[in-house]
Amino acid sequence: MAPRSFLTLHDIDVDQWPAVFDRTAILRVQRHDKTLAGKTIALVMEKASTRTRVSFEVAAYELGGNSTHLSASGTQIGRGEPAEDTARVLSEYCHAIVLRTFGQDRVETFQRWATIPVVNGLTDLHHPCQVATDLFTVRERFDQIDGLRYAWIGDGNNMANSWIEAAGMFGLDLVLACPAGYDPDATILATARGEQARAGRGSIEVVRDPRDAVRGAHVVNTDVWASMGQEEEAAKRRVAFAGYCIDDKLMGLADQASIVLHCLPAHRGEEITGDVLDGPRSLAWRQAGNRLHVAKAILEYVLPS
Ligand code: CP
Ligand code: NVA
Repeated sequence: MAPRSFLTLHDIDVDQWPAVFDRTAILRVQRHDKTLAGKTIALVMEKASTRTRVSFEVAAYELGGNSTHLSASGTQIGRGEPAEDTARVLSEYCHAIVLRTFGQDRVETFQRWATIPVVNGLTDLHHPCQVATDLFTVRERFDQIDGLRYAWIGDGNNMANSWIEAAGMFGLDLVLACPAGYDPDATILATARGEQARAGRGSIEVVRDPRDAVRGAHVVNTDVWASMGQEEEAAKRRVAFAGYCIDDKLMGLADQASIVLHCLPAHRGEEITGDVLDGPRSLAWRQAGNRLHVAKAILEYVLPS
């Protein structure tokens, strides 16, 4: 049987997600189990990471397993060893690979050549572990994920794409406010809209004015304006994204019970003010904490006992 990988949110069937979230909630309270006993998770980080790396390391430990971290610069990966070879070799030692990298094609190559599950720890196109955590955090607060209005403010990046995928799968109402030229991936958008049309529920809109996205929203979400790999565009992006900062005035348009999410790291004063990020509507810290428990539930899903 092919290993169960997790490269995008669709790799866990829509009917399976409630069980994954239920298990996450149990693990949040219980913390430890033995479901990964004797197993080692390889964490291949070709980009920087704090939350993804540490949450998966601690997740492996709390489930009775082990982890090993590989950065590009400290291993043969950085000297050009092909993905095909790295995937095959890690499959000889480890039981799953969490990979953070650039192109989605690279996680797909790892998946093709590995004989163990591969988990997408962020690519330029998707960030499924984070958006799974966002959904879990919403569910904790509202006891539901559908029937709410979601706003995305800022870049149409990997996070936005995975949110669109979630909206397609779960029939969510999502409005994204992105500056012209920074729209989300057109194929992911078309696929998600098609899924919603077939299911007859949910809507996904891309608008230019953040106020049109935030008005009446229950969940307001954002991310940095320049993602990893786009550092040289930071100055240009600061100009393009002026007016896309989530501040108290913008939040005044949201639903009274609204929450603010941010996957972190944040740039206070750019995509979000310090007042909002550190304020009462922000669940960013709970959300960051939840990464650990979602990581455990995902590892259990790809490595069933
Ligand atoms: N949110 C997130 O993925 O954080 P890291 O880049 O620190 O892993
Ligand atoms: N969009 C950001 C997310 C960081 C967790 C990036 O790719 O850098």
